[in-house]
Amino acid sequence: MTLVHIDFASAEADALARHTGRVVAFADESLDPWARRIDRLTRGALKRAMDSEAWSDLKPGEGLELAFPAGMAARAVHLIRLPRNAKPADLRKAGATIGRALDTAGALVAAASVRKIEHLAEGIALRAYAFARKAEAPKALGDVTLACKAAEAARTAAAPLLARADAVHFSRDLVNEPANILTTVEFAKRLEAMRDLGLEVEVLDEADLHKLGMQALLAVGQGSESPSQVVVMQWKGGGDAAPLALVGKGVVFDTGGISIKPAAGMEDMTMDMGGAGVVAGVMRALAARKAKANVVGLVGLVENMPDGRAQRPGDVVTSMKGDTIEVINTDAEGRLVLADVMWYAQDRFKPAAMVDLATLTGAVIIGLGHEKAGVFGNDDGLCADFLKAAEDTGEGAWRLPLDPAYDAQLKSRIADMKNVGGRPAGSITAAQFLQRFVKPDVPWIHLDIAGVTLIDKETAFAPKGATGWGVRALDTLVRTRFGG
Ligand code: BES
Ligand code: MN
Ligand code: ZN
Repeated sequence: MTLVHIDFASAEADALARHTGRVVAFADESLDPWARRIDRLTRGALKRAMDSEAWSDLKPGEGLELAFPAGMAARAVHLIRLPRNAKPADLRKAGATIGRALDTAGALVAAASVRKIEHLAEGIALRAYAFARKAEAPKALGDVTLACKAAEAARTAAAPLLARADAVHFSRDLVNEPANILTTVEFAKRLEAMRDLGLEVEVLDEADLHKLGMQALLAVGQGSESPSQVVVMQWKGGGDAAPLALVGKGVVFDTGGISIKPAAGMEDMTMDMGGAGVVAGVMRALAARKAKANVVGLVGLVENMPDGRAQRPGDVVTSMKGDTIEVINTDAEGRLVLADVMWYAQDRFKPAAMVDLATLTGAVIIGLGHEKAGVFGNDDGLCADFLKAAEDTGEGAWRLPLDPAYDAQLKSRIADMKNVGGRPAGSITAAQFLQRFVKPDVPWIHLDIAGVTLIDKETAFAPKGATGWGVRALDTLVRTRFGG
């Protein structure tokens, strides 16, 4: 949940002395003009802090704290190291440093000399997040005021970034939510609630999916008490342009099915709907900022459980496309879900491009760890644009190859393909499998986000848990390539 309210006001020297929460100031080689005022109030405390070894060890965006400074009402001054010509990434990092340290008393940020203050605000908002299901709700943080030169202009520049941070938090909430609460039905309900934002939302139930021929997707969910569903979200801000289609894997819990996973760590498989969570977050961001683009988000919501009705290893299922799949391992379920939803997306919407997101393979974690998502694609221009967007938003991404040579690993004796390709290049064979469900001429990117969706340590922009990786990069991609 989002913890903080951020606003902008014109800077006043008096307010710095009177604020009873935290006061944030900036310096690099020297104090910025507003930090100098605080230095005078505290009779040189900031300059002394800057002479310390602790200060010289700081990287851009990091800070140090002076508690209960004499000469001020503040409970702390937070002095942040910020280069004179700070890049958006430095500003975001500085914001995250502020956001992490916030408490119930609020903060006044002396940012009148900071240019591109909206990125500072974005960093604060992204980091000021918490998720807990405890009897006592987390305490709301005090308000944050960014004291700046032109408050109205700053507010306008920050609005879309703050809306986007809120969408990142929405995505994180979905991923952090346990699977007994976020069932397929509850997930669909939370997406339907986004109608209020102006999104068109449709829910396809099992009967609909049956009629459409989505046997591969239905096979994954047939061992669960929660019904399988596909939710279609449309944002129509781009006239009659063909839409961008975003497709997300929404496995609300992945036990592995009959090919059951080991007990250790299985609780993390509550995040196996991360792809669907990102798609939902992007749609929310687009609606909130009234994007001038046509985007359709589709998520396949299923639960992969072992049961008397569950699919078995060796079963052969027919996909909506018509190709048959021999299910060697019921734990390679994400690709079965995506195959049908991707086909449906292309069949119905004739998209200008398609991006799918999935916590698809453990192998991508072996390859890239938790720093970068795996990027696959059939269109160099689209891949380059996405990688640029991810670079701008600071979301790690790295392209991996597709090659028909890997298809040999998917050959089946009795069906058109197997659903697994063995241990070598597990992320690539999964991507090759998906590519069979991409129509020729549709520019397509597959993002394997298994390593970046949930991280068991704190990162710069999120506490331990869900990261919301990809919401901002895809929002940026929509701006730069799909109309705005
Ligand atoms: N949801 C998992 C992938 C995963 C693993 C996500 C770890 C996040 C963290 C996926 O459905 C899966 O089980 N993949 C198998 C595929 C294998 C059976 C070919 C895997 O990676 O082991
Ligand atoms: Mn699995
Ligand atoms: Zn899975």
